[in-house]
Amino acid sequence: MIRSRIIGTGFFVPSKVLTNNELEEMVDTSDKWIRERTGIRERRIAEEQNSSDLATKASANALKMAGIKASDIDLIIVATVTPDMVFPSTACFLQKKIGAASASAFDISAACSGFIYAMDVADKYIKGGSAKKVLVVGVDRFSSIIDWQDRATCILFGDGAGAVVLTSEEGKRGLLSSHIFSNGNFWDMLYAPLNGSSNGLTASSAASAQKGGVKMRGNETFKIAVKMMEEASLEALRCNHLGVADLDLFIPHQANARIINSAAQRLSLPQEKIYMNIDKYGNTSAASIPIAMAEAHKAGLIHDNSLILLVAFGGGFTWASSLIRW
Ligand code: UT7
Repeated sequence: MIRSRIIGTGFFVPSKVLTNNELEEMVDTSDKWIRERTGIRERRIAEEQNSSDLATKASANALKMAGIKASDIDLIIVATVTPDMVFPSTACFLQKKIGAASASAFDISAACSGFIYAMDVADKYIKGGSAKKVLVVGVDRFSSIIDWQDRATCILFGDGAGAVVLTSEEGKRGLLSSHIFSNGNFWDMLYAPLNGSSNGLTASSAASAQKGGVKMRGNETFKIAVKMMEEASLEALRCNHLGVADLDLFIPHQANARIINSAAQRLSLPQEKIYMNIDKYGNTSAASIPIAMAEAHKAGLIHDNSLILLVAFGGGFTWASSLIRW
């Protein structure tokens, strides 16, 4: 059976660190509140770099690990809700910047679930035989669409990018299945009316950031996120006739440490199987899962044949899971 196997992972985060203590100077919050309610200590902020710049660095790392050239890539899919511009797609900018001359390129918009959505689409191109090497990137520069006066949201997000190279391969290893879900009835729980990371709201005025920046009904979103992450995780396991005990690593979207722990508790997952890096990066939206996966791989937590469950939840609402035999 043809499968999509990950042969390279890479990530990139900007060097500028924004700590909780620095946020205390900007809005009425405290390091203690942020740490206790979210698990976040600091996040990275892109100053000059657009989403495609972050994606370019993450992709270079993934291509290096895969041991292939950009010109070998047939397809580039970028998951982002903070594109450089409304158009061209961030994927087209990325194609130019890495020199992937033979690739087709497009973006996917599914907020924090975007990376799993993009992997699902890539897998279908690979299984259908129309692509052999696919670069899948999750990138967001949320700092460009944040209302920096809204303490309920500005403490949560950070910027970054993560990438994987998928190859078409015969065998038992690779992406076993992905499951994507949406419910647009919940659109107004988490949304940003305006967008555009190269023309960020913060660059224009505080008034426009307030009008157009990210808005969230956090507490309601929290509860639905826990439930849907549990359901999507179970769906992926059920579909492959596997159980929680078979998992080697659980890599959830990093929105809030309490959401991750609650979902893991419902699944009876032991702490040592959960990968968490939210303390360093906050919620990097579409980048959060591929950053975590690349970091976990680098840290030696992923081996040949490891069984890995990815699960995400985000604006839309969208939610998704996928199971990988590494
Ligand atoms: O990635 C996509 C999915 N995203 C998520 O799933 C995020 C989901 N939501 C959350 O992570 C949490 O709901 C938050 C971290 C956003 C908020 O935590 P919470 O425990 O749900 O707090 P809350 O919204 O119920 O607010 C509790 C209190 C309120 O004060 P009162 O009304 O009790 O006096 C808020 O005004 O905390 C206050 N508060 C803050 N205090 C200090 C809200 N934000 C802050 C803040 N600093 N930054």
